[in-house]
Amino acid sequence: MARHLITSALPYINGIKHLGNMVGSMLPADVYARYLRQTGRETLYICATDEHGTPAELAAKEAGLPVDAYCAQQHEAQKAIYDGFGLSFDYFGRSSSAQNREITQHFARQLQKNGFIEERAIRQVYSLADERFLPDRYIVGTCPHCGYDKARGDQCENCTRVLDPTDLIDARSAISGSSDLEVRETKHLFLLQSKLQGEVEAWIDEQGKDWPVLASSIARKWLTEGLHDRSITRDLEWGVPVPADTWPELAAEGKVFYVWFDAPVEYIGATKEWADELPAERDWKSWWYEATDVRYTQFMGKDNVPFHTVMFPATELGTREPWKRVDYVKAFNWLNYYGGKFSTSQRRGVFTHDALEILPADYWRYFMMANAPESDDTSFSWELFSATVNKDLADVLGNFVNRVLSFSRKRFGDEVPAGSEAGAAETELGREVARLLAEYEAHMEEMQFRKAAQALRALWSAGNSYLETKAPWLEIKTDPDAAALTLRTAMNLIHLYAVVSEPFIPATAAAMRSAFALTGDDRTWVTQDEARSLSSVPAGTAFTVPPVLFAKITEEDLESYRERFGGGDEAA
Ligand code: 2FM
Ligand code: ZN
Repeated sequence: MARHLITSALPYINGIKHLGNMVGSMLPADVYARYLRQTGRETLYICATDEHGTPAELAAKEAGLPVDAYCAQQHEAQKAIYDGFGLSFDYFGRSSSAQNREITQHFARQLQKNGFIEERAIRQVYSLADERFLPDRYIVGTCPHCGYDKARGDQCENCTRVLDPTDLIDARSAISGSSDLEVRETKHLFLLQSKLQGEVEAWIDEQGKDWPVLASSIARKWLTEGLHDRSITRDLEWGVPVPADTWPELAAEGKVFYVWFDAPVEYIGATKEWADELPAERDWKSWWYEATDVRYTQFMGKDNVPFHTVMFPATELGTREPWKRVDYVKAFNWLNYYGGKFSTSQRRGVFTHDALEILPADYWRYFMMANAPESDDTSFSWELFSATVNKDLADVLGNFVNRVLSFSRKRFGDEVPAGSEAGAAETELGREVARLLAEYEAHMEEMQFRKAAQALRALWSAGNSYLETKAPWLEIKTDPDAAALTLRTAMNLIHLYAVVSEPFIPATAAAMRSAFALTGDDRTWVTQDEARSLSSVPAGTAFTVPPVLFAKITEEDLESYRERFGGGDEAA
């Protein structure tokens, strides 16, 4: 059986992320990792903060902190939030780690040895006002392709085209705003990607066949435009230094690698960070090097696709070493805020720390996955959010759990009642639950998260329908044994929900599971037989009634959220 390696795009260190960032990377990766673990697959889920480059330097400057201190602080802040969201990383590392430095430098040396790196003198933008070279993001201006006027020197946020700083129209310094810029000559390392074009193409022909269209079409578009040689060093103080043993002159000048060169290597670096914590038990290399039994899935937003499907694979190929390349790329479109962009710079939308301050993680997790921007962009609105929470979570799931457990306790006490033998209604219910479970599993295997969320909701709904049909509150009047059967069956459904809902709503799942005094690992996935027989929780099992699982969002709540976050009136 394959071992599963999962990574989600590394969040930049520069500040707390918004929901749009999380929905396209870490959250779906977590849902998938949890599902794989529960279904018995050996799984390693790795993520980290992306700490180098100009975003980190600029943000540290703004915060008035040395960049290393800023990164350490922000790493902890992001980590705490991801814990709050229940993200089950096996390791959450830092791209500024010694491990990443070592492996990044190793990659560079290998590429040099194999003739894929060349030293070139280039003309680069120098800011007279700031007295320094301005790399990529330190330069802003108008995108020559789409006319967006806040495009950065490395990439246009609007049309996602990768840019060269000198492409920008009306360029100015992001540090001082000065347009007193001139072009000077300096030496940099270039990755000769053009030499690897054919190999990358052949690899994508083979590997990319099964990728979702979003990922494969972006990869193909890039290859059609041609792989250009790219500068992979920068004039920054913070980054992986160019190794002096191989490039003494550049090292002496203090050049560091470009953030997009070392960031994907950190997937490997963080795995080593993980292993270095328990070296006797963990083997990082077995996941990455000659790892033929590993299935590697990456999660990311669509702007990250070129780097993961073309550039990093080219880098890996160029080492001429058997590093693990991605098997499956799960890419996402954008989650918008009232039809406009979530924006970190303009503080527009819902940020992850604010989200957790308002409501527990499961409300957000379910909403985001049920509305994940898989085939298209989707839009967040408080109205949609509250309708989803109130209907799916509070009414369909929460109310069912509470009603069943409270009613049973009132009529039959603190243990699951026995009642009559299962009859036709239970057989029918079991069949339906098994069918829906199979559907849910199929969507999860394919990482079709919206469809999976729909199937999960349908499972919850099946419980409601059963309860309405059997109406134990009426049965109890004439046939208490029949009512007991209905409640026992419904409690078994609750237990099944507790197991299969965990990938989406782990905290609520734990609360549902712990309602029953069962021993053993009751998180293990439900089999088709168990779904059909609905008898894992036997009569006589003690139970408690958990507090209300999901509180409804009221009109007043809604009003206060709109006021606090903006209701989209200012949307583009
Ligand atoms: O776009 C981003 O947010 C980047 N920090 C993603 C990096 S992914 C990986 F390659 F490190
Ligand atoms: Zn553009």
